[in-house]
Amino acid sequence: MPEPFTVLIMAAGRGTRMRSETPKVLHRICGKPMVEWVVDAARRAGAGRVVCVVRPGDGVADGLPNDVAVAEQREGEGTGAAVLAARDAMGDGPVVVLSGDHPLITAEQIAALVEEHQRAKAGATLLTTDQLEPSGYGRIVRTDRGEVERIVETKYTEGVPPDELAIREINLGTYVFEAPHVFDALDEVGLDDGERYLTGALPVLKGDGAKVVAHLTDDAAVALGINDRAGLMQAEALAQRRILEYHALEGVTFLQPATSRVEAEVTIGAETVIGPGVSLLGRTSVGERCEIVQAHVVDAEIHDDATIGPFTYLRPGTVVRRGAKVGTFVEVKNSDIGEGAKVPHLSYVGDADVGERSNLGASTITANYDGRTKHRTNLGKSVKTGVHTSLVAPLDVGDRAYTGAGSVITGDIPEGALGIARSEQRNVEGYADRVEEDSK
Ligand code: UD1
Ligand code: CA
Repeated sequence: MPEPFTVLIMAAGRGTRMRSETPKVLHRICGKPMVEWVVDAARRAGAGRVVCVVRPGDGVADGLPNDVAVAEQREGEGTGAAVLAARDAMGDGPVVVLSGDHPLITAEQIAALVEEHQRAKAGATLLTTDQLEPSGYGRIVRTDRGEVERIVETKYTEGVPPDELAIREINLGTYVFEAPHVFDALDEVGLDDGERYLTGALPVLKGDGAKVVAHLTDDAAVALGINDRAGLMQAEALAQRRILEYHALEGVTFLQPATSRVEAEVTIGAETVIGPGVSLLGRTSVGERCEIVQAHVVDAEIHDDATIGPFTYLRPGTVVRRGAKVGTFVEVKNSDIGEGAKVPHLSYVGDADVGERSNLGASTITANYDGRTKHRTNLGKSVKTGVHTSLVAPLDVGDRAYTGAGSVITGDIPEGALGIARSEQRNVEGYADRVEEDSK
């Protein structure tokens, strides 16, 4: 059993290369803020305590889970200053330091690093790779005997000797240190371009006789650090692949994965088939054996055996119950589509309850908004609306009721009745002859 460890996440960087008002670590990857990816990996790796370093008032702390402690970096710049900001929040023992801008770090990788650190009785263990384009990263300088000597920063290359710039092995900003030693070492690190570098602690620790171990990974996703929005795109693609593979292994079929977007918090049941052009976003949940094709789904709940699409928009608060169908050119918002109910074509269903086995004719529209407030439409069980029915809410339609095609329904319909609200048809005899006469 590894010793319990604390995780410190550095998330207080300025992230200027993102060209954004939003702090870098709040940019989302597959719908989930970068920093939360890191928090989740830390938790799953078995972290005893997670501390996130933020800037006062930058908003990063607001979205964090309650069990994540927050330390504010009130002074100093650089990763060393970030770690020092969490000094009082740390006990003794192993501290895993993670970078908020390396979101695809995995729990397995963190656990493996801690294990190696403890097996080697190291004072510092860091994750490195030689699989990325190394520019801008810190390069690992090793001694003749292969030990880590120091790290050369290359964000600014001026004054960096060519042989050091040629090094391909880079620091990934993922470390295991020992508290309190790492803090004592950082006290001795001077400023570099106004920043206190965490990497500056390594030579100090070495000087005190500690062992510094580098662990090489060739997993490009784990390694990827995000400094700009090009990096964000790369991470998005890698994360999306990871999410789809996870669901695929759990029994979900993706017919055209390159056109599927499934965000991080989405759940999907086994035997569900996702066809081309499907986006499942936010906290959407999908049951088992569903079929979904060409659909944009946001925070909706789709139960087992439902059929969605093609060309369907399900908005927040939508519940599609077991075996129901929501079909072509249909938008549903904040509505409950009952078991086995069908909304097959060209409809807008907003703020409505549709009872089980009801069937809405093509182009049934709820008029849920009177310009000031939203009102609900309640349709009972086995209701059948004719094509082109407008349901003007608030409205109650009883079980087994019907509406006539083309009706504008403004009043309740009792159980089993037909509601019909349209003008009588009138035929004007000889109309075509009259038109022809007039145009002579
Ligand atoms: C850092 C490493 C570099 C490594 C790279 C990996 C240092 C000195 N350099 O460089 O060796 O190759 O990461 O991506 O550590 N942060 C704070 N407070 C600050 C500054 C940064 O919390 O004052 C946080 C950032 O939010 C970010 C992380 O620390 O999550 C890394 O900071 P960043 O400025 O991106 O470091 P790099 O220059 O990329
Ligand atoms: Ca960085």
